[in-house]
Formats: sequence, C-alpha cells, structure tokens
Amino acid sequence: MSRLYSFARPVLFKLDPERAHALSLEALKRGVLRSRNIPLDARLRVDVAGLSFANPLGLAAGYDKNAEVPDAALRLGFGFVEVGTVTPLPQEGNPRPRIFRMPESFAVINRLGFNNEGHAEVAERLEKRARKAGIVGVNIGANKDSADRIGDYVTGIHRFEALASYLTVNISSPNTPGLRDLQKGSDLDRLLEHVMAARDGAAALTAMKPKPVFVKVAPDLSMEEIEAIAQAVLKRRVDGLIVSNTSLSRHGVEGRRFSDEAGGLSGRPIFTRSSYVLAAFRRALGPAFPIVGAGGVESARTAIAKIEAGADLVQFYTALVYGGPALPVRILDGMIRFLDKTGADTIGQVRDRKVEEILAREPPIGWEARRA
Ligand SMILES: Cc1cc2nc3c(=O)[nH]c(=O)nc-3n(C[C@H](O)[C@H](O)[C@H](O)COP(=O)(O)O)c2cc1C
Repeated sequence: MSRLYSFARPVLFKLDPERAHALSLEALKRGVLRSRNIPLDARLRVDVAGLSFANPLGLAAGYDKNAEVPDAALRLGFGFVEVGTVTPLPQEGNPRPRIFRMPESFAVINRLGFNNEGHAEVAERLEKRARKAGIVGVNIGANKDSADRIGDYVTGIHRFEALASYLTVNISSPNTPGLRDLQKGSDLDRLLEHVMAARDGAAALTAMKPKPVFVKVAPDLSMEEIEAIAQAVLKRRVDGLIVSNTSLSRHGVEGRRFSDEAGGLSGRPIFTRSSYVLAAFRRALGPAFPIVGAGGVESARTAIAKIEAGADLVQFYTALVYGGPALPVRILDGMIRFLDKTGADTIGQVRDRKVEEILAREPPIGWEARRA
C-alpha cells in the first residue's frame, strides 16, 4: 500500500486539500486502502474507561466527520476511530479555502467550522454498522447559530449514546465563535452537569452500561484554567479528557506561508505545547483518570512520548496527511520494537514517566498566547 501512496502523494498534494481529503475518503470507502500485517501484540493492549483497546493509537476527530469510513479506518491499524464533530443540524461550515497545508512544518491550519451532515445522517450510518466490532467514538458539538449550545450537546448524547463506544464533548474548536468559552467556570460546570445527567438518563432508559464521556480541550490554557477544568471534570465524574485540539498560537510557524490564516494549527508545531498541557492535566487529575493525548503525534517516538507525558491513549490526524495510510502500522511496529528493546511488559508501563520532567521545564514559548 505504501507504494501505491508514494505514487498518489505528489498528485494529492497538487490538489486543493479538501479535494484530496475527499479522494482519500473515497479510496477508503472503496476498500482500495487497507493495511496488511497489522501487528497484534498483547503488550499494546490498553484497558481504560471500561473499554478494551487492541492498541493505543486512534484516528482523531475531523478526518471522518460524517462517519463514512470508520471501519475502513480501523482496517488501517488504528485501535480506535473518533468520528465527528457532529452537530444537531447539518452545517456548511466556513467559506473556502479553509484548510491550509504547511508541508515544510508538517502542520495544517484549518478553519472548517464544523462542516458536517448533522445528527440524523450520521446516526443512520452508525446504525448500519452497529453490530460490527471495533471502538468507534462519536465527537459531538453545537451548531454555530444555536440558541442553546448546552442543549445541542445534550441532544448529541441522547442521539449517539447507544451507537457510540464513547462520546466526546468537543468544547475546544477555535472555529465556532465563543465555543471555547464553555471550557470556563460556571458555563463548564453547567455543561458537564447536563451532559452527564443526559448520559446517565439515556443509559438507564436502554438498560445498557453507560458509555464513557470524554471532554476535549484546547492546548491554549493557563495553569489556572487547567486546574479549574480538572476540578470540574472530577466533580461531575466525567470519564476522560482528550488533550488536545488545535492551537491558536503560531509559535514555530511564524513567517511561514499561510501562518497568518485564521484557524487552528495542528501537527508537529503543537507537539511540545500539547504535551506540556497533557502532563499538567495528568498531575492535576491523578493516575486513575483516563487521558487521551493528541497534537503532533507522527511516529512511534512521539506516540510513546505522549504516553510518557501522561496519556493512556493517543490520537493523530495531521500526520496522516503527510505520512499516508501506512503510518498507523509503521507507528505500531515502532512501538513493538521499543517494547522489545526496553523489556516493558505493556505500553502502559511507560505512562507518566516524564510528567514531572516535562513540568519542571519552562512552559513552551508562546504558551498561553492568543487565548480565545
Ligand atoms: C482538518 C482538521 C479538521 C479537524 N476537525 C476536528 C473536529 O471536527 N473535531 C475535533 O474535535 N477536532 C478536529 N480536529 C482536531 C484534531 O482532532 C486533533 O485534535 C488536532 O489536529 C491535533 O492532532 P494532530 O496534530 O495529530 O492533528 C481537526 C483537525 C484538522 C487538521
């Protein structure tokens, strides 16, 4: 497969990024892309939040916004796939162009603005695969023009509780004005109160085991904000955190082509920042709390570094753009070589090893900058 991709890559990179993305979805749908030799190694297994993951590597939200290809994505080797963000009503998103590749920085800036087909369409697709194996999370959001954003999340919980392996409450997209304010103070507490009550209510109704609810946060948070979010998620018994979404900072890409475009930065330049915030959350939340690390994962080394910074699981998206569909298997192979070399019994054994070391460093430059 990597041979096929090495021919396709130069063509894809000449295309508009959204066109290239649509073609990659189409290839997955047709079954053109699938990985052979997906490593199955018991040392990679992670049991967290009541779910059992074959490996800790996940596809982050935003690639498969409309749940068109979750099973095909799982066949690339991912241990789990997160679809969405899905909003109650379909939404066009922002005017194009709204995705910018920055290949020399292994980064992307996007201001898509939750373009998606809405709850009904996505739920119908997920119903069709409901009996299939594989961990598929659903990331939910609020419509841009909604008069009741908290209500939109509650609707999302009700709609997807029975269909999702887990639910992610995304309050950290920089591309829906005001959305990130839900990460703060009494708004956050009220949101979490309603969301968790909706989850418990929906679970009681179906007599099913309640599905874990994760909250996805931004990397552009101060230490005080991190502390406050940690207290709020513990108080409301949220099941886990995803750290992090894209960044408003342009540290590391200043002066580069497209760096002045509005939107969220992802990929290599946000690795250090998002890992620092991850470590800070691990310290604030203690060892029992499930955390998913995202932001600049592109190799076995960076995936393991996220786990050492406090992550139980990791996710990536931007590296898939540059590394192609064979990347998940390459990362898993590298993780296995690492386990062989170090003699660790499980990948979870390395978790938290570097939390204190990371937090003892100076906070990454540009951190806390341009907070929205
Ligand atoms: C084009 C694009 C679209 C994205 N859309 C979403 C989204 O709809 N919901 C969401 O929670 N995160 C979204 N993200 C953020 C990713 O899920 C991820 O948190 C972030 O990009 C950091 O990981 P990465 O550096 O591996 O890309 C998007 C990222 C990109 C690049």
